[in-house]
Amino acid sequence: MTPAPAIHPSILNADQAHLADELDRVADADGLHVDVMDNHFVPNHFGGPSLVETVTAHTDLPVDAHLMIENADRWAPTYAEAGATIVTTHIEATAAPFRLADELHRLGAGAGIALRPTTPLSAVEHLLGRIDLLLLMTVEPGFGGQSFIEAMLPKIERARRLVSEEGLELRIQIDGGVTARTIERAAEAGAGVFVAGSAVYRADDAPAAIARLRDLAAAHAH
Ligand code: DX5
Ligand code: ZN
Repeated sequence: MTPAPAIHPSILNADQAHLADELDRVADADGLHVDVMDNHFVPNHFGGPSLVETVTAHTDLPVDAHLMIENADRWAPTYAEAGATIVTTHIEATAAPFRLADELHRLGAGAGIALRPTTPLSAVEHLLGRIDLLLLMTVEPGFGGQSFIEAMLPKIERARRLVSEEGLELRIQIDGGVTARTIERAAEAGAGVFVAGSAVYRADDAPAAIARLRDLAAAHAH
């Protein structure tokens, strides 16, 4: 049975000066998404292992760390040690993804692999049986508040087909431009875990925004 759609607010879009309150605002979510940017893989700087420690100490929700960093093999295990439930690295910045997945599993974390919008699925198809989460970026990574790239819908569909043909357990996450306007088609295409930054944190009522996104996704889920 397909698990229910999950909404993971991205704390990149939270008011960092009031992080504890901002985490409490999204306590009804299904997980939390912590972005990490090194100013090399993407033209922005954010997060680090200590932020993951702070977040995991404050919440009982699963925390997925999205590492938009170069040299990901070297740093990803530190995020598992910091308490992340799943550590996601970009295939474009991961030299030995099979070895890294084993290492993350050994440390008790799940392994996720992310693709930039222009990276084809063929780059990861041999890996899918060994990872727990496939993250398809639906914006160019680096910033919150960008528009959903519609051209990613067929890629999500192909990923879902691959996952079901192979009978795999891994979930398909999308990240970027997820709103009440875009989530239905993404859910129809086959995404199951939705990162939502500005759609949640810019809402006056964050719990209502989360519930609405979850309902829209559920109504269009496979
Ligand atoms: C962008 C980050 C996203 C970002 C999403 O590179 O990976 O997680 O916070 O923000 P929205 O939902 O506003 O596009
Ligand atoms: Zn992200």
